[in-house]
Amino acid sequence: MNGPLENFTIVIFGAGSDLASRKLFPSIYQLARWGHIPATYRVIGVGRAGLSHEEFRQFVREKVTAASAQSADDAGRLEEFCKRLFYVNVDLDKVDGYHALYSEIMSTRGEEGVCSNLLFYLSTPPSLAPVIVHNLVQAKLGGRDLPCPGWRKIVAEKPYGHDLKSARELNRILEEAFDEHQIYRIDHYLGKEPVQNIMVFRFSNGMFEPLWNRQYIEQVQINIAEDFGIRGRGAYYEEAGLLRDIIQNHGLQLMAAIAMEPPVDLSADGIRDEKSKILRSVRQFNRDSVYDSVVLGQYDGYRLEKGVASDSKVETYAAVKFLIDNWRWSGVPFYMKAGKNLSRKVTEIVITFKCPPQNFYGQYGVAACTPNQVILGIQPDETVAIRFGTKRPGEMMVTDPVYMRFDYRDSFTEEGLTAYHRLLLDAIAGNQMNFIRRDSVEYSWKIIDGIRECLDGHMPEIYPVHSWGPESSVRIYGGG
Ligand code: BG6
Repeated sequence: MNGPLENFTIVIFGAGSDLASRKLFPSIYQLARWGHIPATYRVIGVGRAGLSHEEFRQFVREKVTAASAQSADDAGRLEEFCKRLFYVNVDLDKVDGYHALYSEIMSTRGEEGVCSNLLFYLSTPPSLAPVIVHNLVQAKLGGRDLPCPGWRKIVAEKPYGHDLKSARELNRILEEAFDEHQIYRIDHYLGKEPVQNIMVFRFSNGMFEPLWNRQYIEQVQINIAEDFGIRGRGAYYEEAGLLRDIIQNHGLQLMAAIAMEPPVDLSADGIRDEKSKILRSVRQFNRDSVYDSVVLGQYDGYRLEKGVASDSKVETYAAVKFLIDNWRWSGVPFYMKAGKNLSRKVTEIVITFKCPPQNFYGQYGVAACTPNQVILGIQPDETVAIRFGTKRPGEMMVTDPVYMRFDYRDSFTEEGLTAYHRLLLDAIAGNQMNFIRRDSVEYSWKIIDGIRECLDGHMPEIYPVHSWGPESSVRIYGGG
């Protein structure tokens, strides 16, 4: 829970970006409407479109209206919000625009805190980060240029680099102008309510934590399936591929939350220390192990997408068997599968427990054992289910799997915050718990780089659209 917030200005680089239009402006508007942020704030859009403040307001008005079903009585609040929007035209390569930005920020000296508490949001491709940071410093807007009491922070969107080398370089550049406590590397998965619940589920329930280790857990599966393709992002996907787009960040962060040790406290670093240790303990792949541990796929028709090479070897699917070499998890496989254009959109984590040492109820040819499972539904259903075996009614002593299921929608009436609501609030409040620390980013890239090096030049297996991915992905489970 964050304390009361101070007045602030948020400066959004890439004001015309898809992310700003679909997520950032609507989220800030709603936070203001709900009273979660102080009444005195400013949003400055930075872009090259040469808009006037009024044109920018109209642009945002349309985006916010499209994103949130507006009821008539909200029109006044939307206008209040629009009055707090400003636009500065900046050619990102040239320092002049940053001086204009400085002047725009300082023009609010009358409003306490607005010009001294600054949140810079990079909703821009990562390749632009160096020039933006460099010019911010030139214009005395860097993190260490505080002219008066206040704070400055910078939020960096994913992709955070392209590999370990570029991520380190990006870290180096950011750290020339900002200290680590001012840098917010965002992974929107960490703002999702059921993802935040992973730690609560594990560490506030006495009955699960004693079993949460290699003695009782057989395997963990993390599935991130989407039923749509690359949605026009051909150029980006050709550079990234699924390993970089989903596994390096969302996938590994989910795994860290499942596998981490209890933190020493609930401080941002208390938690991030433990996540980092997990990522550091992930076993690296080599050319021998990679064949049985990684299957890459590409959906049929990917090469026909706009911006995609006709002989592209980029993966849109990955199945990976990770091993975590530490005391708690030694020998327990973490199977991660993620892909585009699969059968349905679902993100879930399935923890499968070991069977009891003897099976008394399998003698009628029924499955030898129904392993217990804890299934954490992340989306679209926000659920926790527990699977256990129970006696089938009737004469025979056989077990059938049944489920006990908790669903957020049934148990709570409160509307949860969306990922961007929460993460924006956290960034404004200065809470880094749900942002990725430098070391975690680098450990994650090391893992992904290791896979990529082993599979250099490898052609992913083609899979049909709306299937469950390449058939050979069973290989990572030790089959076929
Ligand atoms: C983004 C990826 O980070 O996450 C997209 O770039 C992906 O490719 C998206 O579709 C998934 O987010 P969510 O919240 O819809 O699961």
